[in-house]
Amino acid sequence: MDLPAVGLGTMGVADSAAIETAIEAGYRHLDTAQIYENERVVGDGIAAADTDREALTVATKLWIDRLAADDVRPGTEASLDRLGLDSVDLLYVHRPRGGYDAETTLPALEAVRDDGLTDAVGLSNFEPAQLDAAREYLDDIAAHQVEFHPYFWREALLADAQRHGYPLVAYSPLAGGQVFDDPTIRAVAEKHDTTAAAVSIAWVLSHDNVVTIPKASSRAHLEANLAAAALELDAEDIERIDGIEREEELFPE
Ligand SMILES: NC(=O)c1ccc[n+]([C@@H]2O[C@H](COP(=O)([O-])OP(=O)(O)OC[C@H]3O[C@@H](n4cnc5c(N)ncnc54)[C@H](OP(=O)(O)O)[C@@H]3O)[C@@H](O)[C@H]2O)c1
Repeated sequence: MDLPAVGLGTMGVADSAAIETAIEAGYRHLDTAQIYENERVVGDGIAAADTDREALTVATKLWIDRLAADDVRPGTEASLDRLGLDSVDLLYVHRPRGGYDAETTLPALEAVRDDGLTDAVGLSNFEPAQLDAAREYLDDIAAHQVEFHPYFWREALLADAQRHGYPLVAYSPLAGGQVFDDPTIRAVAEKHDTTAAAVSIAWVLSHDNVVTIPKASSRAHLEANLAAAALELDAEDIERIDGIEREEELFPE
């Protein structure tokens, strides 16, 4: 799947004007989920923006209580109804838990994809072994969305994405804001005369096959995060950030 380097995370966005502003600022990949309870907000923002639907990649995620095979189709239809769309571009399994069973859930997702309710099926928060098991029942993993920031990322998941050639969608690239006070990241930011937010996003994007979806509400943050894709860190910067010892998983199982 061809995703732009920086898309929009919408968890906690409750105002459709922020979505409209993001699209107008240039965001083309919008990421929501049933559990964020804002699919209607995202749909209203898309409807209000002066941009063709075809220019946008809209992604949502089936929550764990909609993953039993019989729940996949009605769950997907309910999301489309809230979004006000005929189809999404990417439909994820949010977590391999609850009603998830690779053997039955994934064929049900392929069926809604084959019927045009989504263009592609993605996975989120899978372990390497769960990706291998998923490949037995899903012909194409279009993307894998995982937590990825200087305090937490998984080499094995990156390697799987690179080996199989699908994008790893890095969520919480700013560690929910925690990187802003990090002395190492601040020092690299100072060197490039930019912000810690930009450095964290650029560090995430320095990995092959990785795109990201920072969440932002204000126009200034939205524009700054898009622009961060152009920031080039050198090998020394990357090494310094790789060397940060703090480990913090924000969304453990
Ligand atoms: N698949 C999953 O299980 C999963 C789990 C968690 C998150 N996600 C996705 O990933 C997205 C992003 O993750 P996240 O929301 O946890 O955190 P994040 O993107 O790491 O950080 C968002 C925070 O940083 C602030 N911010 C953004 N840009 C900034 C800038 N340029 N300067 C200063 N502050 C800035 C935002 O404030 P403002 O809003 O005030 O701009 C917000 O408080 C979510 O919205 C969601 O779509 C997926």
